[in-house]
Amino acid sequence: MKLAVVGKGGVGKTSISGTLARVLSRRGHDVLAIDGDPNPNLALALGVTPAAMAAMPGLTAELLEQTPAGFRLTRTLDQLRDEYSIPAPDDVALMAVRPPQTAGTGCLGRVHATVRNVVHVAAETPGDICLLDIEASLEHFRQNKAIEADTMLVVVEPYFKSLETGRRMIRLGKQLKPKRLVLVANKVWDKRSRDAVERLADDEGVEVAGAVPHDVHMLEADLACSALLDHAPDAPSVEAIYGLADDLLAADGGPTPAP
Ligand SMILES: Nc1ncnc2c1ncn2[C@@H]1O[C@H](COP(=O)(O)OP(=O)(O)OP(=O)(O)O)[C@@H](O)[C@H]1O
Ligand SMILES: [Mg+2]
Repeated sequence: MKLAVVGKGGVGKTSISGTLARVLSRRGHDVLAIDGDPNPNLALALGVTPAAMAAMPGLTAELLEQTPAGFRLTRTLDQLRDEYSIPAPDDVALMAVRPPQTAGTGCLGRVHATVRNVVHVAAETPGDICLLDIEASLEHFRQNKAIEADTMLVVVEPYFKSLETGRRMIRLGKQLKPKRLVLVANKVWDKRSRDAVERLADDEGVEVAGAVPHDVHMLEADLACSALLDHAPDAPSVEAIYGLADDLLAADGGPTPAP
């Protein structure tokens, strides 16, 4: 399964991705988490130390070469995993885009194309999972940088601008023809806020695969620079993300490794 997590800025994509990747690995799957945000933070949400994050060899535009048939990676997936991934807790392998090193020059399009090509070759074995966390931008739905995923999670918060961004992303995402496109409600605080997400889902003909409560443990984990799963393993948000993982695995229908 190739999962892409999208949504408006700050809705909780990275917080959910970090916990979800670890939970999917705990369910027995080989999980490659990719931080496609040029301002990467997924490492911290996974529980990697800031020092290890800073030392990561990031994915760059130079990992793509042009051939008469188009762009292709200069490494196999195994080579990329050896050279560019680091281990994260719960046996998750993590790769991340290298943040820009210089201001005032260049564009990030080619780096996003690298990420797209890595996702293309990742998780080809049934049961394996690649989870892509990306920056909040509609740019990812366009051209050769378009998100490569069979399952798209559109994360929304129950407030108008986030829901409208979610609506745009649902409409663009459907054009990329993933096998499944679902909403994830985050920071939900009561029935009314949950209903606002359900209404969007009904309008756009998609399911809500999970609803994560507004949970102070998330904020406390961030403040402590700790992963939610380590900081507050029994938090309500953790339970909800376990539920989301099980929904995704059930819908994928592939072989589930023995626990
Ligand atoms: N369920 C939740 N309850 C409370 N706070 C949350 C929840 N989910 C995320 N947050 C908080 O929201 C903030 C933004 O989260 P996060 O960085 O995961 O969002 P993002 O969508 O990845 O942002 P960006 O668009 O910048 O990449 C963080 O402070 C995080 O702790
Ligand atoms: Mg993020």
